[in-house]
Amino acid sequence: MENVLLEKQGHVSIITINRPKALNALATEVLKDLEAVVKTVEADKDTYVAVITGAGDKSFVAGADIVEMKDKDVAQAKEYSAYGNQIFRAIEQLHCPVIAAVNGFALGGGCELSLSCDIRIASENAVFGQPEVGLGITPGFGGTQRLARTVGVGFAKEMIYTARNIKADKALAIGLVNKVVPQEELMPTVLKMANGIAKNAPIAVAQSKKAINNGLQLDIDGGVAEEVKDFAECFNTEDQKYGMECFVNRVKEKEFKNK
Ligand code: CAA
Repeated sequence: MENVLLEKQGHVSIITINRPKALNALATEVLKDLEAVVKTVEADKDTYVAVITGAGDKSFVAGADIVEMKDKDVAQAKEYSAYGNQIFRAIEQLHCPVIAAVNGFALGGGCELSLSCDIRIASENAVFGQPEVGLGITPGFGGTQRLARTVGVGFAKEMIYTARNIKADKALAIGLVNKVVPQEELMPTVLKMANGIAKNAPIAVAQSKKAINNGLQLDIDGGVAEEVKDFAECFNTEDQKYGMECFVNRVKEKEFKNK
């Protein structure tokens, strides 16, 4: 898989979009490899956290591939948008948290890819934007839906209607990213967070992700019902018994079993 690399460090799977010559733009071949890698990570329950980044120090992902898109007709555009959305939805629904390590341009499909992740950490040179209306199209890989859910309707509409890019500090100010760090500290920061998450009970983390994501699609009563279910299911795990025993017996160093 040369367009998308997959590396495992302990319980953390690192996915790297690897087309640096085109600033990691998402040509169909890249999307196909990404789809396959996401399926591999989903099947690997030993992955407790996934990280997505881009190869090189200039770009996370500079968007869908404009050269490939330019001659598409309506039916082909529909297929392309549906395909990208299907993969990004699979990322959003992965069993484990996904952290986007945004190492440069995150434009169009790149910004949308980061939005399908649970958490975004950016390097100081990161640039976010939804430039699509300047190309005569709308965002097509989830941007019209997830950007507003992440930064609120006002900032999402401003970014999409103006097609103006924003720098990392502005992305932090509007809540698009959790943290901004110098480029050389990006992967160490992301991996430290990933390993910190991976130390907790993986099933409980996964249940929390499910409760938050599913609950956001529901009204408050539906959301609370989702939480009650996800909370109760944890009591069917060895890790719940173990975690609480550790508390009672004042054991500080825990090692959960993912069972
Ligand atoms: N599609 C295809 N190729 C791309 C690309 C993209 N989205 N972004 C960059 N590239 C290619 C360039 O064509 C160039 O290739 P060549 O060397 O073969 O000419 C190479 O990557 C390097 O790019 P630049 O020379 O343009 O680099 P730069 O530093 O001058 O500019 C940039 C960087 C500002 C990111 C500029 O490349 C750019 O504006 N890219 C397009 C960004 C964009 O509009 N993205 C949204 C795409 S639409 C979309 O994503 C729709 C959707 O939601 C599904």
